[in-house]
Amino acid sequence: MRDSKPPRIPASQITPESVWRSRRSWLKGAGAGLLSWGGAGLLGSGSLIGSAARASQVQGRLAGTPNPAYQIPDAPTAEQDVIGYNNFYEFGTGKSDPADHAARMQTRPWTLTIEGEVEKPRTFDLDALMKLAPMEERIYRLRCVEAWSMVIPWEGYPLATLLRQVQPTSKAKFVQFESAVQPENMPGLHDRIIDWPYVEGLRMDEALHPLTLLVFGVYGKLLPNQNGAPLRVAIPWKYGFKSGKSIVRIRLLDHLPETSWARIAPHEYGFYANVNPKVPHPRWSQASERRIGDGFFAPRVPTLMFNGYADQVASLYTGMDLRANY
Ligand code: MTE
Repeated sequence: MRDSKPPRIPASQITPESVWRSRRSWLKGAGAGLLSWGGAGLLGSGSLIGSAARASQVQGRLAGTPNPAYQIPDAPTAEQDVIGYNNFYEFGTGKSDPADHAARMQTRPWTLTIEGEVEKPRTFDLDALMKLAPMEERIYRLRCVEAWSMVIPWEGYPLATLLRQVQPTSKAKFVQFESAVQPENMPGLHDRIIDWPYVEGLRMDEALHPLTLLVFGVYGKLLPNQNGAPLRVAIPWKYGFKSGKSIVRIRLLDHLPETSWARIAPHEYGFYANVNPKVPHPRWSQASERRIGDGFFAPRVPTLMFNGYADQVASLYTGMDLRANY
């Protein structure tokens, strides 16, 4: 397996030795970070691609119409990697844990409640949500804060289409996404790494931006559980941790919401989390990334400002100090 080769930059250089030697006790104790898992995972001898990645090939089809405005020159990451190398801590911290364990998650029936600063709070069932707008296929780059990346064909429609249905009030300034909690089906919940449920958030203008996608499928099929079935968001100019999976609730708020990683390590993971090669993480550079599937000895790819979406989103942050608002 290509990805089981030792990394070019040993994890010991980017993560303190005590950390990668004892990742579990470290994270519980220091509560600090995503990369420790990625780094430690890379040192593992076994396959990083979960066996359930293969099982999920039986997922139903969900063909979106390719939207020419969102096709990019980068070659898409192999489907096996997209659905087999995941971060979904509800199922464990290893990269193959989600593919190995997420099949147990119940994704039907599923409802999504939208509440808070809205004129028309509403609970949608999944079928209604899937009929709300035509499904598009968009190919987005995904850049994880751990300095790896993928190129993923998602199926979905703009989150703005859904938010318009509930009529945000003039007080709605932020959005919070809450992920599902199913204690009997999610073995990772026993590790109190995160104060579950996983919560993430956006500023209202970010949530309404046409790039922000409500996602139901990947690679022309319904989302496999490990990728956040039955619905998640994709926000391609931000680090991947902003893209909450398996969402059950969206709250519109007049104040900045709590978010899971900012709660755990506020000095390492900010609310904005815009991809920015010039602002390093306190423990590693963000100037380049490892494209999953390229192999550890392939050259690293330079990280682009706003993950290559600057022409579309830079204006959202005019006048803002991006170093202070990391
Ligand atoms: N959402 C939930 N509920 N739980 C998680 O652990 N991990 C985040 C994000 N969404 C996470 C989550 C992180 S760190 C990343 S990089 C992306 O999901 C990974 O998405 P993928 O596994 O589909 O590539």
